Amino acid sequence: MADPKKLYIKTYGCQMNVYDSERMAEALGGAGYVETQSPDDADMILLNTCHIREKAAEKVYSELGRFKGLKAEKPDLKIGVAGCVAQAEGEEIMRRQPLVDLVVGPQSYHRLPELEARAQGGEKALDTDFPVDDKFDTLRHRPKAKRGPTAFLTVQEGCDKFCAFCVVPYTRGAEVSRPAARIIEEAQDLVERGVREITLLGQNVNAYHGAGEGGDWSLARLIWALNEIDGLERIRFTTSHPNDMSDDLIEAHGTCEKLMPYLHLPVQSGSDKILKRMNRAHTAESYIRLIERIRDARPDILLSGDFIVGFPEETEEDFQATMQLIREVRYGYAYSFKYSTRPGTPAAERPLVDDAEASDRLYRLQALITEQQRAAQDAMVGRTVKVLFEKPGRLPGQMVGKSDYLHAVHVADPALSVGDIAEIEIIESGANSLSGRRAG
Ligand code: SAH
Ligand code: SF4
Ligand code: F3S
Repeated sequence: MADPKKLYIKTYGCQMNVYDSERMAEALGGAGYVETQSPDDADMILLNTCHIREKAAEKVYSELGRFKGLKAEKPDLKIGVAGCVAQAEGEEIMRRQPLVDLVVGPQSYHRLPELEARAQGGEKALDTDFPVDDKFDTLRHRPKAKRGPTAFLTVQEGCDKFCAFCVVPYTRGAEVSRPAARIIEEAQDLVERGVREITLLGQNVNAYHGAGEGGDWSLARLIWALNEIDGLERIRFTTSHPNDMSDDLIEAHGTCEKLMPYLHLPVQSGSDKILKRMNRAHTAESYIRLIERIRDARPDILLSGDFIVGFPEETEEDFQATMQLIREVRYGYAYSFKYSTRPGTPAAERPLVDDAEASDRLYRLQALITEQQRAAQDAMVGRTVKVLFEKPGRLPGQMVGKSDYLHAVHVADPALSVGDIAEIEIIESGANSLSGRRAG
């Protein structure tokens, strides 16, 4: 038998891309490829890209430029671009960077083996369709190899919200939910392969409305069904939109045993003027009331968020409203970004905030967020929390895992193995992680 061909995949962007990269590797596995960790010995290099901000998109071209030497040494090397830049820029990528052989969008990567064969035949292969056939149907049977204790599982794709700054509705297309039975089947399969924690993914995961027994299921209904799977210990989901936080989902946070006390609920801004211009369809006040209801259901829940500073026409007063909202909510974690103009989005037409001013706001917002993150992490000291161990730490006998609240926790205990869940007493809060010892 010929040696298998080697595939190197580099993933940018969100968790959905991480999941997609796994599925792409599996699809190409069927075409005789095995994964390699280095581009140097690869027969095919795939960049799974992100288009969310200008920097993310530009990174792809500088990375491609770096493969010039490799391609010169190895003319048979195939180079592909997948993901959201592929969807947004299509053929333009091959014009800008002629060494690219293959371009495939996020909704058509089940056709990768076909595209690969065309590229092998010397063609430039491109597929950025939003096909009517469901890619997950084609990719139905996943390999049975054992895997680590945590996994992502995409349940919903695309977005119909059209926030004025965002490319996702264009790169990922309209909102589509996978049928509940398929998700349950995939979750069972993951658990059989060693997975103990599943994070359900969607650009708008709580807008999930997949076909199920008796009609469309909500995300909460799906979570309750997954809660029944023996061996599955933890369920998480991301990313949610405030307007899709339905009553049954809020209630599940209080009552569903395997649903973890962590919620990523981006608000972007605390100014109603800016929220309106962002087309977010909620106010700062309605968001804060929603957080209160979630905390009533689950008082210890850890909240995280996303913020954009320097959105067109944001004033210092608007920015102060965001700072005020952050003070009221008290986040356990947050991601913050300086606004980046995305061609083709409505906000791209609006007057920009001075760049130095936007950078200064980002700096001030991040200082506040860092303070809150620290406080939330430090508050864990003295508590006993459950930790799922994911990998060995750097020190001998040490393991690293995640608490229910998603904090990284280090424990030096040679009796622990990857995949164990143990009660850990937290004794110290370090720079970016906690450390503890086995309780009891
Ligand atoms: N579906 C998710 C977000 C996906 S994008 C949601 O609705 O929350 C992840 C984050 O990137 C967004 O929450 C936003 O904070 C940020 N983002 C999106 N477009 C951006 C832009 N043009 N400039 C800066 N940040 C942006
Ligand atoms: Fe983008 Fe808004 Fe959709 Fe999130 S909800 S993916 S920010 S358009
Ligand atoms: Fe980026 Fe696409 Fe995800 S633009 S954030 S990879 S949906």
